[in-house]
Amino acid sequence: MTLWSGRFSSGMGDGLWDLSESYSFDHVLYAFDILGSKAHVEGLVHAGLVTKEEGIAIVAALDEVLAEFTAGRFERATSDEDIHMAIERRVIELAGDVGAKLHSARSRNDQVATTFRLFTMSAIHRIVDATLELVDVLVAIGERNDAVYLPGYTHLQRAQPILLSHHLNAHAWSLLRDVDRLLDARERMNVSPLGAGALAGTSLAIDPSFVADLLGFDSAFANSLDAVSDRDFVAEALFDVAMLGVHLSRMGEELVLWTTAEFNFATLGDAFTTGSSMLPQKKNSDVAELARAKSGRLVGNLTGLLVMLKGLPLAYNRDLQEDKEPLFDSVRQVLMVLAAMSGAYESMTFHADVAASAADDQYLVAIDIAEELVGEGVPFRQAHEQVGRLVGEAVSSGRALRDVVAESPAFERFVGLFDPGVALRRRRSPGSSGPVSAGAQSARLSAARQRAGERLVAAISAAPDVEPRDP
Ligand code: ARG
Repeated sequence: MTLWSGRFSSGMGDGLWDLSESYSFDHVLYAFDILGSKAHVEGLVHAGLVTKEEGIAIVAALDEVLAEFTAGRFERATSDEDIHMAIERRVIELAGDVGAKLHSARSRNDQVATTFRLFTMSAIHRIVDATLELVDVLVAIGERNDAVYLPGYTHLQRAQPILLSHHLNAHAWSLLRDVDRLLDARERMNVSPLGAGALAGTSLAIDPSFVADLLGFDSAFANSLDAVSDRDFVAEALFDVAMLGVHLSRMGEELVLWTTAEFNFATLGDAFTTGSSMLPQKKNSDVAELARAKSGRLVGNLTGLLVMLKGLPLAYNRDLQEDKEPLFDSVRQVLMVLAAMSGAYESMTFHADVAASAADDQYLVAIDIAEELVGEGVPFRQAHEQVGRLVGEAVSSGRALRDVVAESPAFERFVGLFDPGVALRRRRSPGSSGPVSAGAQSARLSAARQRAGERLVAAISAAPDVEPRDP
């Protein structure tokens, strides 16, 4: 028998049950749902709809249900359609008639919206934490290797020399933007839908702000229809995770390239590579390939949710039940990738000599000659043209650019620019890739990292203390 059986003469058809039930995936929300229910009970007592003693009895039953879940001994009844009904059914079993008061002035519609917001905020804390850990790993590698440099690329063609720290910090900056976006989204979703009822609120004298406060939300909803139908928070979280996933995929692709024999800039530790079942010599950077690949499903989860939401009439529609699995999947996947990428970078040996000799490629000095000419007053377009001619001469004659420059009376004074590391040290404009501006950048980066960390700590300490289960 279901909790709504009063109006129905038959149970659900078999096919409908499988389609309809969501317990199989939403049971992981139990801790957040119970937390929301306990606040709701306090709200009912506050409103005088439940006596203090009744409230204590219902909360005790909810605590017992939580203990059953935590210990892995909660038993699903065949009629439990979702986590919300399973918990309520069990509360009624444990507390008797008084348990049947739990759902007063509440609908599953405002209940699920509340539970899912609490889950999403908590998931954001975990993702932000893991992202900041990766930022720290990247920054630490740069700091340990502060003289190491490599070629920077455009069009995947060698362009200009850059410090390894500058390169890894570029990834760190993008990850810090992801963190900011996630915490911004968390601030926006910090509104309690509890008390919106099915869609229009209730005739009972409840106070949504009271329960919002108990649950650590900044405020309660202003519009009950919006409260139960809004899934912007899921879409935003999915976008932010997809964007993070795209960043991770670009980093993954780079590690794949760096660890090829062709680049040979880096080797990953054995623990972060795999062998081949056939070719004994193989050492594959699967971790980086999977980081690259996972972004596909993260984008897919976002797309699926947006398409599901599109065109839904107000307010709650059962379609909204399809909001859970995409988010669960994205959270699970991105946490795995973040942990694996942190480990992979930590295990990485960077081949400074190989990277430096690639970065000391003489053609990368061409811009420095042109810039020297600009410093002497030559208009840049003319300087570009003159150096371009030197490069053309070197390429067509098969001689080294350095020799062409050394043998040309008009340019020989620039030959010292070809010495190893010189081009790198000349990059000195603010935010550039050389050692002169590295200090200022790392001060800004560590300030931004610290701010992000403080934001996370503030968010966690404002949130209810729930031990989340992995989705
Ligand atoms: N399992 C449902 C969901 O995730 C709960 C809400 C059901 N509400 C309803 N009116 N059928 O959305």
